[in-house]
Amino acid sequence: MAPGGSTPGVIVRLGTVDSTQSVAFALAERGAADRTVVVADQQLAGRGRRGRSWSAPAGTSLLASIIVRPRLPQALLPTLSLTTAVAVGEALRRVTGVDARLKWPNDVLVAGRKIAGILLESRMTGASGGGSAPTTPAMVTIIGVGINLGQREFPPDLADSATSVALETGRAPSREAVLTAALEEFDVWRGRLEAEGFGPIREDWRRLSDTLGRRVTVEDVAGVAADLDTDGALLVDVGGSIKRVVAGMVSSGESIGTPVPR
Ligand code: BTN
Repeated sequence: MAPGGSTPGVIVRLGTVDSTQSVAFALAERGAADRTVVVADQQLAGRGRRGRSWSAPAGTSLLASIIVRPRLPQALLPTLSLTTAVAVGEALRRVTGVDARLKWPNDVLVAGRKIAGILLESRMTGASGGGSAPTTPAMVTIIGVGINLGQREFPPDLADSATSVALETGRAPSREAVLTAALEEFDVWRGRLEAEGFGPIREDWRRLSDTLGRRVTVEDVAGVAADLDTDGALLVDVGGSIKRVVAGMVSSGESIGTPVPR
């Protein structure tokens, strides 16, 4: 266990679900402990960020949701998503050898195409977790991770922007091996965040970044991604003045395609 990290917990393995996020929230409501994980073979109503859907043919992907009962100051909570991206990126590099890179805030890319997505959803639940009677209201965050493993092709609308481990390496890895590595990395990086703050994660995120140095459009800010701030915000250079972007998604359009000389 990493310093300040979580004790590895229960993994609930399911066949077909609507969304592992929904199942995880239901378990959390009934008092499931921190670091309980829900894994499914298939989702009928998988959720993506910003109200989008997330779909994958049965058995092709790692579809997992981690129940987290945060032990972080409120100000550090947004950095949990970047921390998870670092963990997933490092796990994919270690197990599959792909050159995983991070797109702010928490997409994982290989060769500019998305190989994994991360969704954080938080709610107050009636249960504080840990197995005792569910009486104390507490905030729970469910971290959803979708990793494309075995897809050999994507629908036309995703073909230019999505990839999988199979497409990148020629073979689909074992879902179990990727799950084990992702959870190991998550425990380590979450432990670091809780014990040392965002500093070490920020360094790794910057090292793996596919965003810094590129032209980006985030919400209504367009410029060059200059750096990651100490709280996880993206610093964008707009004609020489630095703007902070704390939420939103980097445009996946042509505007992020051009590396800019530093
Ligand atoms: C994104 O839009 O990039 C985030 C995608 C997150 C997908 C995962 S798959 C497992 C978990 N269950 C869901 O319904 N969504 C997340």
